Amino acid sequence: MFDQTLLRQAPLPDEMRILLDKYPREAWDEHPNFKQATKNWLSAHQMFRALSSSVRKDAELYLDRQLKPGDYAARLSYRGNALVGNLHGHHHWEDNSYFPELSAADPRFDIGLKILESDHRVLNRVLNDFTEAAMRTLEYLHLSKEAALIEAGNVHSMALTIEKLLARHLVDEEELAVPIIIHHKLRD
Ligand SMILES: [Fe+2]
Ligand SMILES: [Fe+2]
Repeated sequence: MFDQTLLRQAPLPDEMRILLDKYPREAWDEHPNFKQATKNWLSAHQMFRALSSSVRKDAELYLDRQLKPGDYAARLSYRGNALVGNLHGHHHWEDNSYFPELSAADPRFDIGLKILESDHRVLNRVLNDFTEAAMRTLEYLHLSKEAALIEAGNVHSMALTIEKLLARHLVDEEELAVPIIIHHKLRD
């Protein structure tokens, strides 16, 4: 079972905020350097927040007997796959392309980028545990109601952990990356 102490709760170090103080979140929309590519990246984060919350809520509905096993299986399979597949792709791209671009433009924020990369590794472990619990749940939904309920409880707990990790990670990532992009006129 995933070790909850691995979840980072502390914000990024204060020195990572120097550009955020200059370009606070409320001012991004109006800034001419806040372009579509960056808006799309923020939309992907919104999709991850919504998907992880749906996966958690679906488990709650099934555990409360408000969702039939067949319906739950369909939702878990579709939404679980979408969440895990898209998050893996997103992180791979950030680690290999996006973060190196930000670092090349302004190495003052490398400490923050390293912390975000470490979040990705922790999240990978959670996603693996989530996938295993989801696979077992899908199997048991056809075989044993009791076993399916226990495994759905594990899916629920992993989905909560994913939500918690994303809540910290996505805000920190957005508030580190967008000011660098605006300041250095990147991703035009
Ligand atoms: Fe990330
Ligand atoms: Fe991201």
